[in-house]
Amino acid sequence: MCYAIPGRIIKISNNIALIDYYGERKEALVDIEGIRTGDYVFAQGGVIVDRLQEEVALSILEGWREAFSRLKKKDKDLAEEEPFPEGIDPEIIRIIRKGEEGITLTRDEMLTLLRCSGRGELNLLYQTANSIRQKVHKNSSCVHGIIEFSNICKNDCAYCGIRKDNHALERYRMEADEIVEIVTSAVNRLGFRAFVLQSGEDSYYTTERLTEIIRRIRERCGVLLILSIGERDKGCYQELYDAGARGVLIRFETSNPDLYGKFHTTLRYEDRIETLKGVREIGYIIATGSLIGLPGQREEDLLEDILLARSFDTEMYSFGPLIAHPATPLASTPPVDLDAILKVIALTRLITHDGNALVTSAVETLFGKEGTRQALMAGGNSMMINLTPARYRRLYAIYPREDRATGFPDEDVQRRISETVSLLHSLGRAPTDIGISGTRGGNNKTSL
Ligand code: 5AD
Repeated sequence: MCYAIPGRIIKISNNIALIDYYGERKEALVDIEGIRTGDYVFAQGGVIVDRLQEEVALSILEGWREAFSRLKKKDKDLAEEEPFPEGIDPEIIRIIRKGEEGITLTRDEMLTLLRCSGRGELNLLYQTANSIRQKVHKNSSCVHGIIEFSNICKNDCAYCGIRKDNHALERYRMEADEIVEIVTSAVNRLGFRAFVLQSGEDSYYTTERLTEIIRRIRERCGVLLILSIGERDKGCYQELYDAGARGVLIRFETSNPDLYGKFHTTLRYEDRIETLKGVREIGYIIATGSLIGLPGQREEDLLEDILLARSFDTEMYSFGPLIAHPATPLASTPPVDLDAILKVIALTRLITHDGNALVTSAVETLFGKEGTRQALMAGGNSMMINLTPARYRRLYAIYPREDRATGFPDEDVQRRISETVSLLHSLGRAPTDIGISGTRGGNNKTSL
């Protein structure tokens, strides 16, 4: 199973390539030297990461051809709207249709959707979000590998199990060799093409050490590297970009500065926002979002979260549930219900249309595979597979790490891959690149 289907470049202008996947066209940034029209390439997250020999590409494409059109049809059939069930509040229908047509919703209208609780109304919202996703992205879904390379953190976020005050937790840190080896083997043996490298805020990884890791990976493999390492100064992020990292995943956690202040004693809201602005200016692909279910968080806050995320030209929205960790001050926080998550994902889709919405692993931890399936059917189009070696995975306990969904906390990667792939296939999704979003295409500041 391969996590990216190659495409053929139809044309290139201003460093943006138009790529054909069985007749479907996507735009991606040209990010490697010597790429020409007619080349076969892998793109990930709207960035060309590798070129392939024609014979290799054609044989992969041949292998996918039949499955691809079958999956595409299934996705389309599933997204086809059903006639309105009786009894849905006409005001909700009006707002949803307005969003579907791409007309800007007022804050009040968006709030009405976030506050909505009727089953028929919610189903219409999710179904509409799914239909927009299908029209914009077709059945493309992206599956990134995530490697959690250190659980050492200097911060004390009130919700997080790897906070420095959790003295009971055994700590680990991977050396460069190990990280490079995990990525290389995930590319060569498993076909991954995009990775999130995540850690606590661990100052052992200096700019030099991170640069070395990124350089070594990029020398060996054509992959998209997304950093999730917390706050660093802009100079550091610039060096890491120059070394070959292209994405940054950093949530602002909440857009409400008061709530932010309450749950972060070692971090400042303004710094988080500055970090996000800084990495955007450098030209990184941005993945950001917030935690859903913080004590005291209201629907108004969630709405501002979506709008704040959108203001960074976010490529990938990452909204997920808070899961109470027993060794944190938020140990007794009750879990949110699945609809709270689905509403945020669906509203994000309704007001952005072309954004990419991640379905976080926390959704699966709380609600099982069915939760993930529902999120993928409510506007979600992206997932991550954890590639952290089993001996560390349990220790990267931002939230308690038993895998309720399967009951196999240390199940092997291959098994998780096949489960994810069969879920995606059951919904007609295929791993083509998701392409560049409208905002980034016109607005890109990369100096490539
Ligand atoms: N539940 C869910 N998500 C959490 N994170 C940290 N702690 C928790 C928790 N208890 C998320 C934060 C952070 C990301 C790496 O993990 O949003 O940005």
